[in-house]
Amino acid sequence: MPARISLARLPTPFERAERLSEAWGVSIWVKRDDLTGFGLSGNKARKLEFHLAAALESGASTVITCGAVQSNHCRATAIACARLGLRCILYLRTTDGGPPPEVTGNHLLQRLAGAECRFIDPGAYARRDELMAEAASSVGDAWVIPEGASDGLGMWGFVMAMEELADQLGGLRPAGIWHAASSGATTAGLALAVARLGLEIPVIGCSVGEPVEELDRRIRSVVSTVDEPSGLVWELTDAYVGGGYGVASEDQLAVAGEATRLTGLLFDPTYTGKALAGLYGEIRRGRFRTGDDVVFWHTGGGFATFAWDWSPVLG
Ligand SMILES: Cc1ncc(COP(=O)(O)O)c(C=O)c1O
Repeated sequence: MPARISLARLPTPFERAERLSEAWGVSIWVKRDDLTGFGLSGNKARKLEFHLAAALESGASTVITCGAVQSNHCRATAIACARLGLRCILYLRTTDGGPPPEVTGNHLLQRLAGAECRFIDPGAYARRDELMAEAASSVGDAWVIPEGASDGLGMWGFVMAMEELADQLGGLRPAGIWHAASSGATTAGLALAVARLGLEIPVIGCSVGEPVEELDRRIRSVVSTVDEPSGLVWELTDAYVGGGYGVASEDQLAVAGEATRLTGLLFDPTYTGKALAGLYGEIRRGRFRTGDDVVFWHTGGGFATFAWDWSPVLG
């Protein structure tokens, strides 16, 4: 295992969502990675423990990364850099390459933490790795983290996360570990750990924007950095992508809102809300049935809740 620093508050709780389980007819257990910290909440904190260990080890003064303007990963990186005294440069995708009309949600926290925000349009974002490499060579001692910290290093955060969950499962044998999937390392780490531990638990990534072929390619490229143990498997669905990344339907918002009323937890429409709407859809479809235990991995994303217009479902 690569070097790691401690950023996340671990282990995160693992708890049954009693009222949600009763309402949806399947036993739903929540892995609370929304509680990895406040500013550092979510799945990215786990990946950053490995990336920032490597950055410090390399003697970097600056960390450069990228994402959408409401990126949880960029927010978590900005907060972690503030904690560690590292300069943070963010390449942030906006529709027109200019600053967003409102400084809210994750972007507010990126700014409060002192990150240098460089806004780019989707065309420039397609060349993000090139742009970050250029910036790194002009800084000199920079550490570049790819989108979502989803590479062979970031993946270790979720290998460790699954080991953590395995200790919490006791005798429970879930019918699936359901989670929001986008840049791929969460799914990759979970699948790798499940295989290493010899557990027979389906790891199911619910795409929040990409077609399954693209998501699968991303996961494969992440796992290819380690020796692939035999029996490494994951399942993906893109049935709940709807209008695409960062677009949620009124039905999806309604499911996320209902789940908040039944759990007291926040589900943002870009990631966990959309994934939860997917889980609800699979229960309705009969993929999960009464008597099944299902783990919903809450990957965080709470701050983006504030960047959404919830008025259609507020009543
Ligand atoms: C809240 C949240 N959940 C899930 C994901 C998906 O994780 P991954 O990018 O590792 O697939 C992300 C980031 O993309 C995220 O910010």
